[in-house]
Amino acid sequence: MRLTTLTLAASLAAGAAFANPVAPADVVFTEDGAVEQSLTGTAGNADNGFKVFSDKKQGNCVACHNIEARSELTFPGTVGPMLDGVGENRSAAEIRGILVNSKKTFEGTVMPAYYKVDGFTRPGDAYTGKAPKGPLDPLLSAEQIEDVVAFLSSLKD
Ligand code: HEC
Repeated sequence: MRLTTLTLAASLAAGAAFANPVAPADVVFTEDGAVEQSLTGTAGNADNGFKVFSDKKQGNCVACHNIEARSELTFPGTVGPMLDGVGENRSAAEIRGILVNSKKTFEGTVMPAYYKVDGFTRPGDAYTGKAPKGPLDPLLSAEQIEDVVAFLSSLKD
């Protein structure tokens, strides 16, 4: 009886390794800050990735980045590098790692970590003492991250 329960628990734990989506705390980075495993287990949608990239209420990547080839981008920022051709220069795993937690690739960067929920100073706490309690949501969902990975990977020139 006890053995059966243990076997069941073990197989559940093994199954959990493939559960979707990968939780922010369970993301595995390579030494260089890349993330090999898809957060959702399915390929992202590049068209939606462009929306996440340019929408001020979603990724708002345009606050800092421009893509010259996408002239429909309004008010793109110049804080970060231009991302034309990023899919040529970086693997999907590298792009995913930069999105999940850019600090693992670029130490001390101003780019936000988009799939991280701990280790932050609660915004507002120092000023108002009214920072929200409990776990924060990541800035982007696993699906949104994979969509942006698909979109940036498609930028080949
Ligand atoms: C506050 C500014 C800021 C925002 C917002 C921002 N980034 Fe960045 N990003 C940077 C900076 C700066 C770098 C260069 C790394 C460094 O040296 O800090 C960078 C680097 C990158 C790189 C690596 C480019 C390369 O090949 O070297 C990618 C890819 C990237 N950002 C994608 C994104 C995406 C996608 C978003 C939105 C989800 C985003 N960034 C939002 C500032 C930003």
